[in-house]
Amino acid sequence: MNTDVGVTGKSSMDGGSAIHFKGGWKKFRVDGLYDWLIFMGGAMSALLLVWALWRIGSSDYTMEALKIRANPLPQKCQVSNNGDSGVVDWDKGSENYFNDPEVGYTIGKPIKDWDRMRRKWLQQHPHLKNYGKPRVLMVSGSQSTPCKNPIGDHLLLKFFKNKVDYCRLHGIDIFYNTVLLEEHMYTFWAKIPLVRAAMVAHPEAEWIWWMDSDAAITDMDFELPLESYENYNMVVHGWKHLVYEKRSWVSLNAGIFLIRNCEWSIKFMERWSSMGPQTSHFDASGKLLTDALSDRAFKDSDDQSALVYLLLKEKDKWGDKILLEHSYNLNGYWIEHVGTYEDIAKKYEIVEKEHPILNQRHAEKMSTEYAELRKAYMGFDKKVDAAREAEINKERRSFVTHFTGCQPCSGDHNKIYKRENCMKGMERALNFADNQVLRNYGFKHDNLSSDHVTPISSFYIPF
Ligand SMILES: *[C@@H]1O[C@H](CO)[C@@H](O)[C@H](O)[C@H]1NC(C)=O
Repeated sequence: MNTDVGVTGKSSMDGGSAIHFKGGWKKFRVDGLYDWLIFMGGAMSALLLVWALWRIGSSDYTMEALKIRANPLPQKCQVSNNGDSGVVDWDKGSENYFNDPEVGYTIGKPIKDWDRMRRKWLQQHPHLKNYGKPRVLMVSGSQSTPCKNPIGDHLLLKFFKNKVDYCRLHGIDIFYNTVLLEEHMYTFWAKIPLVRAAMVAHPEAEWIWWMDSDAAITDMDFELPLESYENYNMVVHGWKHLVYEKRSWVSLNAGIFLIRNCEWSIKFMERWSSMGPQTSHFDASGKLLTDALSDRAFKDSDDQSALVYLLLKEKDKWGDKILLEHSYNLNGYWIEHVGTYEDIAKKYEIVEKEHPILNQRHAEKMSTEYAELRKAYMGFDKKVDAAREAEINKERRSFVTHFTGCQPCSGDHNKIYKRENCMKGMERALNFADNQVLRNYGFKHDNLSSDHVTPISSFYIPF
């Protein structure tokens, strides 16, 4: 277990939901005659283009071609007669929770009967339902103002790119937010109102996945084992004995978690928030947490201690639905991982030599299929006991590397770490991840500290 005595990846964070209404599309409906006119216009333009090309040859037609493209042939792209894809009548009715003034986005106003409301919404939007694989929305964010650390914004951009890469590869939606949704719930508390709003905005998402801005995905192949979370509503990296026996505030990490989009979660977040800075008893909450936990050396109430506190004191109410995950690194502590990347990459290369198909070029969209192959060839798909699990976790890429205490944005890193180690570590983790992405584009970093890339020449071609 890590000995991090400092802030737990407490990047300050905030929120602002952009709800995209599909309403109003009918305005763009064009009737048949208009359609036909556009078609004729397009056809005439096309003829003119052919004529122009024939006249001028290939020298100077770019502008003309661009004009044609800006005024394309009718593809009926603005028109949808298919009720499935537009706003169905049901959306305008009172059964739709979006039309119920009692249903809000904010903390302090729990939604009664959310599970039923969400289920109804899903029934009416079958094309957005979870078929097989549950839908996941990743939520992350950072402060609204520029970072104090001169390269803080640059680092946040790379951390954000890293999340976008993973989400694109795995068909996960992402919402990144930069404002406080509840003005008094600042820093690490800000994620709760944001996750709460995201649940309402994304009824199609079964899971909301909160990721601190200073956490990077460092195994782009890894897929969340959602099927094994069927009986849980919240998943957070942590250890039972450290929670229940040690009563340690670092027995889990609240900087990364999965929470199911359901009524339980809405109630839980209300309870969790009740120890937050927006309440009148914030100071008392801090004292309560310090008294209940064994190793808190600070006085303000924080979300992570509050989560441990709820597991300890209200175990019957919440405990059986919160999974403390450690079978893989949902939250890898950076100190343990940033020095191991080259060795781990070598292990992967050895298996690639044995199974050259793993080193075969393929479309990025095929990457999850190749990842499955790799998982099988590397033996990561086998059920193992806890001891072997820990061993395997040292041999494989850490799913997440979390720069707990490094504070890339403010630069006010925890003094138990050297600034240089934080900076070098982040660069290495981000490049390690980027290599896994760039591979699908044919390039790799010269080394993990280099932004210079070279084409990969060693792909396997099977003939
Ligand atoms: C990493 O690559 C760069 C070139 O991009 C080179 O200048 C540097 O010496 C390399 N570092 C190591 C440790 O090999």
